[in-house]
Formats: sequence, C-alpha cells, structure tokens
Amino acid sequence: MIYILGSDHAGLILGDFVKNYLLSKGFEIIDFLPKDSQKVDYPDFARKVCTEILKTQDARGILICGTGLGMSIAANRYKGIRAALCLDAYMAKMSRLHNNANVLCLAERISGLGEVESILETFIQTDFEGGRHECRISKIENFDL
Ligand code: RB5
Repeated sequence: MIYILGSDHAGLILGDFVKNYLLSKGFEIIDFLPKDSQKVDYPDFARKVCTEILKTQDARGILICGTGLGMSIAANRYKGIRAALCLDAYMAKMSRLHNNANVLCLAERISGLGEVESILETFIQTDFEGGRHECRISKIENFDL
C-alpha cells in the first residue's frame, strides 16, 4: 500500500508526524505536503492527492487541514474517492470496515498526536468488511450527478 500525503498550512505539523509514522512502519509514501508555512488553499492539495490516488495502484491518501472538513469536502468530489474525517480510532475503524474509505482526513487543530497515532494504526490495519456494504458503496458510485 502506498500512502499519498497532502495538507494545507494548518496541517503541516501533523503532516510531518504522519509522514514519519508511515516511514517508520516501512510504507512507501508520495509526499505532496507543502514545503513551507506559507498560507495555501486546501482544495489544491486535495486535488493533487486524489488525482494521484486514482492513477496509482494500491494507493490511499491522508489529507490534513485545520479541521479536516475542507479536505474531506473537496476529496469527496472525486468519483472513486471515499474520504473520511476521523477524530478517533472508532471512526477510523468504521470508515474502513463499512465505508471502505481510501482517504483519511485528519484535523490538526482538534486531534492530539496520541489520538492521531491510534487513528492511523486502526485505519491502516482494518480491512473492508464487504458484503452488504459493497452494494451501498456501489449506490454512491452510481449516483447520477
Ligand atoms: C485554514 O485556516 C482552514 O480553514 C483549513 O485548514 C481547514 O480547516 C478548512 O476546512
């Protein structure tokens, strides 16, 4: 699994933490994190990450902003992206089990590093349950927009 990372200026510190966490666990990453603390627009980074996920095999994304809200709203505009804003490990577990989330959105201004570590661990380790949830996800994919 390759993890593709992006954040805005309000997610830089957490972005660095997530990057180091994933590298320490041996994951390959693609890094679209901003290189300095200049103010940037979260949709630009959501776009970079989602576009890359959709053309990469076995890829998931992690998007971070102040609240995680802007990133999740932006990412979910992409067909094939299921972005979940997770504020605790239970949300991370359910986002994988039931929603087959392929993008994890995190909130630097809300979540502490200890919480983020358990969110990450859970998101990474939990497999999609399939079954009845498969058909529900297909219904979303088939929305006539
Ligand atoms: C930036 O100030 C902030 O609006 C952004 O990081 C995010 O929280 C938007 O949803």
